[in-house]
Amino acid sequence: MIRFENVTKRYPDGTTAVHELSLEVARGELVTLVGPSGCGKTTTMKMVNRLIEPTSGRILLDGEDISAVDPVELRRRIGYVIQQVGLFPHKTVLDNTATVPYLLGWSKTERRKRAAELLDLVGLDPSRYGDRYPDQLSGGQRQRVGVARALAADPPVLLMDEPFGAVDPVVREHLQNEFLKLQSTLHKTVLFVTHDIEEAVRLGDRIAVYGDGRIEQFDPPTKVLGAPATPYVADFVGADRGLKRLSVTAIERGDLEEPPVVHLDDPLDKARARMRSEGARWAVVLDDADELHGWLGADALGTDAGTAADTGAEPDTTAAAKAAGESAPPTVADHARRMEAWLPLGSPLKQAFSSMLQHDAGWIAVLDDADRFVGVLTPGRLHEALRRSIDADERDVRREEVELETVSDA
Ligand SMILES: Nc1ncnc2c1ncn2[C@@H]1O[C@H](COP(=O)(O)OP(=O)(O)OP(=O)(O)O)[C@@H](O)[C@H]1O
Ligand SMILES: [Mg+2]
Repeated sequence: MIRFENVTKRYPDGTTAVHELSLEVARGELVTLVGPSGCGKTTTMKMVNRLIEPTSGRILLDGEDISAVDPVELRRRIGYVIQQVGLFPHKTVLDNTATVPYLLGWSKTERRKRAAELLDLVGLDPSRYGDRYPDQLSGGQRQRVGVARALAADPPVLLMDEPFGAVDPVVREHLQNEFLKLQSTLHKTVLFVTHDIEEAVRLGDRIAVYGDGRIEQFDPPTKVLGAPATPYVADFVGADRGLKRLSVTAIERGDLEEPPVVHLDDPLDKARARMRSEGARWAVVLDDADELHGWLGADALGTDAGTAADTGAEPDTTAAAKAAGESAPPTVADHARRMEAWLPLGSPLKQAFSSMLQHDAGWIAVLDDADRFVGVLTPGRLHEALRRSIDADERDVRREEVELETVSDA
């Protein structure tokens, strides 16, 4: 969809901002361009909508050489979120959002309608924020308006230059999540610039790591983290890349433990017998709709069994039944504890980890698409999953090396 062929940009003062760049972004793909300040990211981006002309090489959009396309017509097909947002301070939020429809000559009613839809889409209530001016918004809200404005003419291609750069990490993470959700329905072809490797890893289908106008590595996030192509990339990605991997490694079935599963209305002694026979210290408890309710711990077993052992007597079921209100023997429901920490299969390990911390839990239940319980992720299993993902990449790299050697031997 966007294809750079040996593109070089040299500024009149002799600075080579981009050097022999070749890169292709597929239709519907989100490529993040990451690198330190001054490495040529903005220059690369501006060449796509012809705000800057390359010194040599060419750029194709949908197979068409853009140097032959009228810049104004070209920009209609490309939404652009500029670095530092760049809203017009003297225009309202609604008018800012409607900039491109205005340039395209839409009627005032159409413009306002479209702008309101887009503000809704990025999570800003148009009736509340539409008539405000940019300086009456928070930083995060301004960035949302920037995104809404870029989407206004529904362009197939989006260029986003550090669109979430000017906000604190919490707001940033929130905006990133919203944008990912939006992208999963819009499927735009996106070139996304950032200097934050964390953001690049989180958003990108593939990451182009830039060093001084050249691509050092162009690969999916797991590969960039797991197998940095050069010492420069390894350094840029950082020593804590194990941690970053958590956000790109998904929970798989094979990562899960399968503790005994009991139901709320099961008789307690039957549940205990199961747990004892499986040597389990706890069981997962589901309700009658098979949804997660919580867990039945070893302490419920221990206390009751302990009482019986201490007195040297068989458990007095008659007394227990009396205590429970005559007839009914105790059920799992009487001893189960609530626990609502769960995640869908395929969630990133990082989410499992933060969920464990948030719920102060030693495990997280994992559900499938239909919300059925499939197993639990424990800290031990989380660690194994991380190892699995690192080993898999190292294997990939070794295989590629072997293939290369075979090719050069032949
Ligand atoms: N108009 C210009 N004339 C001369 N040099 C320029 C011009 N614009 C940019 N440069 C230089 O080109 C290089 C790349 O700049 P660019 O703006 O593309 O970097 P960047 O990767 O976007 O950086 P940042 O992360 O700081 O936004 C820098 O060394 C910059 O000083
Ligand atoms: Mg820049």
